[in-house]
Amino acid sequence: MKNIAIFASGSGSNAENIIRYFQNHPYVRIDSVWSNKKEAYVLQRAHNLGVETKYFTREQFSGSDQMIKELQNRNVDLVVLAGFLWLVPPEFVDAFTIINIHPALLPTYGGKGMYGSFVHESVVRNQEKESGITIHLVNKEYDKGEHILQVKCPVLPDDTPDTLAARIHELEYKYFPKAIEDFLSRVWSA
Ligand code: GAR
Repeated sequence: MKNIAIFASGSGSNAENIIRYFQNHPYVRIDSVWSNKKEAYVLQRAHNLGVETKYFTREQFSGSDQMIKELQNRNVDLVVLAGFLWLVPPEFVDAFTIINIHPALLPTYGGKGMYGSFVHESVVRNQEKESGITIHLVNKEYDKGEHILQVKCPVLPDDTPDTLAARIHELEYKYFPKAIEDFLSRVWSA
């Protein structure tokens, strides 16, 4: 069995979708959902689905090895970032394999401050013809790790940031859990 810890800062619709996808899965288990925001709706969603939830502070995340030890004690094999907004500290990157989803076609529209609606606002403002999602490994720089999967979608002339966000979310729901599953079977069966 491979254990996943999900990190998320916001609403958590991707986290919920991933939890549902892996319910009763033969070799993947969602161990826990972690958030740096006490009030984040993701914690409620996870709790409703019977997944253990954890809140953590910046000091716990980057000031000590407490969280790393706890995740290792829980036998977490993979950390999945699903709308998680802090830069992951180097010691974390060294300790775990980490996968992130970004709501644009990296390397464009990535980096510090480029998340969620800010990404879609920039894409619409620049009248891009296409956007999409990038699922990638996390390294020590924002949005710079090796790509696992990119999927494109059109940006329509009358799109607003909200209509584009909805289209991108649909792509995320369709591709993110499967990409995680494929990654796990590829890496751990090798
Ligand atoms: C998702 O669109 C995800 O790609 C994005 O935040 C959203 C979270 O939505 N992540 C980033 O922007 C990371 N840079 P959700 O909370 O409903 O899953």
